[in-house]
Amino acid sequence: MANQLLKGKKGIIFGALDERSIAWKTALAAVAEGAEIVLTNAPIALRMGKINELAKQCNAQVIAADATSTADLDNLMQKSMELLGGKMDFILHSIGMSPNVRKNISYTETSYENFLKTLDISALSLHRVCQAAMKADAMNEWGSITGLSYIAAQRTFPGYNDMADAKALLESIARSFGYHYGFAKKVRVNTISQSPTVTTAGSGVAGFDVFFHYAEKMSPLGNASAEDCANYCVMLFSDYCRMVTMQNLFHDGGFSNTGVSTGIVEQIQKAGSDQQ
Ligand SMILES: NC(=O)c1ccc[n+]([C@@H]2O[C@H](COP(=O)([O-])OP(=O)(O)OC[C@H]3O[C@@H](n4cnc5c(N)ncnc54)[C@H](O)[C@@H]3O)[C@@H](O)[C@H]2O)c1
Repeated sequence: MANQLLKGKKGIIFGALDERSIAWKTALAAVAEGAEIVLTNAPIALRMGKINELAKQCNAQVIAADATSTADLDNLMQKSMELLGGKMDFILHSIGMSPNVRKNISYTETSYENFLKTLDISALSLHRVCQAAMKADAMNEWGSITGLSYIAAQRTFPGYNDMADAKALLESIARSFGYHYGFAKKVRVNTISQSPTVTTAGSGVAGFDVFFHYAEKMSPLGNASAEDCANYCVMLFSDYCRMVTMQNLFHDGGFSNTGVSTGIVEQIQKAGSDQQ
């Protein structure tokens, strides 16, 4: 399928933990399309994950960076430019973590210390990445920075907890930084709002299996897979989207514009008649 859409382009991919990660698939897709990349993740994820396997397949170097550390991100920008021999054309921000979700602390009983960590890791980190790139003048004109979001930013999915607020902030940062980076350097900043996807972060959300199947039944095209998402990221990195910025782009098989599907209605009717 590769068409060398990213031939000659260089980029940084955050967040490839294991082969299920959306970032993992995006790294493979970007390289198949001709890009040269640097892979990065938090130091603990580098120790526990499988990133070196991916690095071999992508012929890429790995640089550790905690996305909540400005010093780590400054170092990442400099080292990436040295390793790749120039500025970047794209960055994938594929980062999410909520200590409240991990510890099963409900939204109404939140620990504010955890809540602040959720926002720092899952949302402010996009601001930090953009700021570090801008400060280091690490992006070429018409470059593309893309974050990954979820529709809980617009509508309530109770199990998604404080990640919903983090995603709303993430999308807002993409708009705000996109404005400034666009005028300053013609750099684009967008988020992709992806279907539920079976990954470490996704499966950690309470009731994930149920809303994965619910979304599958609601969406006219079904859920978008991690591979589909990777291809959409590649398109956003490419020159075919050079005028797209400050957007939250739904990549969800039509879920976001569907009120209810006949499949869901039939399921509820069946459950009702089974009870009688
Ligand atoms: N899986 C889904 O259902 C789904 C749906 C919509 C959006 N998303 C979003 O997609 C993105 C990628 O998640 P995924 O589903 O591939 O899961 P994943 O668990 O494979 O990836 C999450 C990544 O975030 C990294 N991370 C956590 N804390 C970090 C830190 N401090 N610094 C740097 N990296 C850190 C992890 O190491 C991991 O690699 C996330 O933003 C997630 O919210 C996922």
